[in-house]
Amino acid sequence: MGTKKVYIETYGCQMNFYDTEILSGILSKTGHYEIIDEPTTADFILLNTCSVRENAETTVYNRIIQLKQYKKQNKNLLIGLVGCMAERLKDEVFNKSDLVKIVIGPDEYRRAPEILDNSLAGDIGVAVRLSRVETYEDIEPLRTHGLSAWLAIMRGCNHFCSYCVVPYTRGRERSRSLQSIVNEIEKLQLNGFKEVTLLGQNVNSYYDNSSNTTFPHLLRIIARAFPQIRIRYVTSHPLDLSDDLLYAMNEFDNICNYIHLPFQSGSNRILKLMNRGYTREHYIERIKQITKILQNFALSTDIIAGFPTETIEDHNETLNLMEEIHFDGAFMFKYSPREGTKSFKMLDDVREEEKIRRLNEIIALQNKHSKEKNQKEIGKIYEVLAEGPSKKNQIEWMGRTKHNKVVIFNNDKNLIHFGNQVNVLITKANSATLFGDVQD
Ligand code: 5AD
Ligand code: SF4
Repeated sequence: MGTKKVYIETYGCQMNFYDTEILSGILSKTGHYEIIDEPTTADFILLNTCSVRENAETTVYNRIIQLKQYKKQNKNLLIGLVGCMAERLKDEVFNKSDLVKIVIGPDEYRRAPEILDNSLAGDIGVAVRLSRVETYEDIEPLRTHGLSAWLAIMRGCNHFCSYCVVPYTRGRERSRSLQSIVNEIEKLQLNGFKEVTLLGQNVNSYYDNSSNTTFPHLLRIIARAFPQIRIRYVTSHPLDLSDDLLYAMNEFDNICNYIHLPFQSGSNRILKLMNRGYTREHYIERIKQITKILQNFALSTDIIAGFPTETIEDHNETLNLMEEIHFDGAFMFKYSPREGTKSFKMLDDVREEEKIRRLNEIIALQNKHSKEKNQKEIGKIYEVLAEGPSKKNQIEWMGRTKHNKVVIFNNDKNLIHFGNQVNVLITKANSATLFGDVQD
């Protein structure tokens, strides 16, 4: 068999983007699969999918229909679904689309070469077993970007929020060993990477049995070992975000002072129905503690509008919590019932137009807060990691501060290069972006 070309398209969260690198690593290591970055000449097109909301799945179905054009050009083209949708739907996928011949769940990527081999011989391949131990810690991810890397330190989730499909598509929590994480960051540093984002559905529950390492302990070890690398992490759960983690963040300059802490709803009644395990008061107490220990930091969150039985009063409590905290940024969604979850059995009784209205209200308030918070940055100087030309032109470059804000700055003399750290004085800001001048 000659080398076969595989094109992987990724949807959804950062964990999926990392998983694509793991899957690419596994396939390319065989020597008979080559990963390519556009679909026209592909022998295989794999979609790495997300199930968290219905529209994420609709996007993938629409994409499969579009892929017919490539099938017309190459009748031997094989199309596969991998990731969360593959896990959720299993062989039902084949009833939904006769174009799909391969289905691989997030814990089965080691079997991908065998499944792709078999599909070349005409078999239909399904691998969807979830594992209690798989962490892919011995797999070398195939990374394309040379500055900022994702690194999953744990997989799965044990929280079972009532609306969320993740515990069913990604299974139970399990952590990678400390040593394997340190080894991987060492390689990243050697290859010129300047930033690593530690990923997990709930990084605060990271625990390596073999070395008794907790998440704050892990952060301290890698921050100390790699002072030149910026360290970020997502996502935290308000129940598990400990003071020790905040102290660890405060101890090291290279741990980025940015926290993503989803609150989902400001109403205690809804939080209980969501099975979030905390109250609004607990959430506010955590934010107060973050403010006390870290002082200078940025905070973002996730919010769901229109959960079953949500009243106007509940919704107002969400708006009111936003007013109380003033987040720097937020990911905002309308509730989407997912089959198999607990809340799927609750009556989805907030009308669609009302959900959209509430969501828009949340988005408008957040935009106002983001703009206000960004404008407070004017006059300050931040260390920015230069990522490259902005979308608009080659002269204006973009980069990020440690607190994860995008900064646009002038590079007309071409003195700043990919990966440089530059000090930028912020001169202008809107709700999404800061603008500034590089300081000599
Ligand atoms: N409907 C809407 N939003 C959801 N999320 C997870 N499940 C759902 C759902 N069924 C959101 C939560 C979570 C983020 C990753 O996606 O806000 O934090
Ligand atoms: Fe889903 Fe809740 Fe786990 Fe986050 S903490 S992945 S929302 S179940």
